[in-house]
Amino acid sequence: MSLIVGVISQKGGVGKSTISRILAAEYARHDWDVKIADFDLSQGTVTSWNADRMANEVKPQISVEQFSSVSSLVKQKGHYDLIVIDGAPASTRQTLDIANISQLLVLPTKTTLDDLRPQIKLAHELRKSGVGKNKILFVLSMVGESKSELENAQMYIEEAGYICAGAIYRKDSIGQAHDTGRAANETPFKSVNKTVDQLVQSIVDQLQQVSV
Ligand SMILES: Nc1ncnc2c1ncn2[C@@H]1O[C@H](COP(=O)(O)OP(=O)(O)OP(=O)(O)O)[C@@H](O)[C@H]1O
Ligand SMILES: [Mg+2]
Repeated sequence: MSLIVGVISQKGGVGKSTISRILAAEYARHDWDVKIADFDLSQGTVTSWNADRMANEVKPQISVEQFSSVSSLVKQKGHYDLIVIDGAPASTRQTLDIANISQLLVLPTKTTLDDLRPQIKLAHELRKSGVGKNKILFVLSMVGESKSELENAQMYIEEAGYICAGAIYRKDSIGQAHDTGRAANETPFKSVNKTVDQLVQSIVDQLQQVSV
């Protein structure tokens, strides 16, 4: 039986594909058989990224496949240790299907209220549809250097009743890593990778908790 993590948001450009790649790279590094299910058919971000990864012979190899529906993904359940669903932006119809099939949902958001509000709204909608609170994990993306920016956003998430797993800082090296088929925890900079790995550890811990 595969573990499934859904990475979803209402707004676009909040870090879904970034987190999907980080998780896939982390588990693949530990010899898990991992697939990223690319639900963003119009952009195909992780599909193109994986082509670059293969062209640059980046290891470990990661399998990526495009899916237009959760029902087609269900057929592959069991073929992989972990499936990471990279959700399309603003895909309301599919979001609940993804939520139902996933053990854990990661909701990335930037730190501004413009981004926090719709993501909290999505979390509330998921809760109303019966999704358990511990299944929803927020991640702060593209965070700047200001300490208060991070703290205020964390507080906003926690006051809304949700868990914030941590943050990924905005770094040129992360964009550059993506451009060469690498994930944000595979940059040439140990300090960047280490910070991202701390976040990964919280997501891994939560996945372990909800999947027992
Ligand atoms: N921490 C970071 N530092 C620098 N660049 C980043 C960082 N995180 C993401 N990016 C870049 O920001 C852009 C948006 O990130 P990403 O593609 O992960 O968002 P998304 O939610 O998947 O977007 P979409 O909704 O369009 O699918 C990408 O160009 C990505 O390479
Ligand atoms: Mg994306």
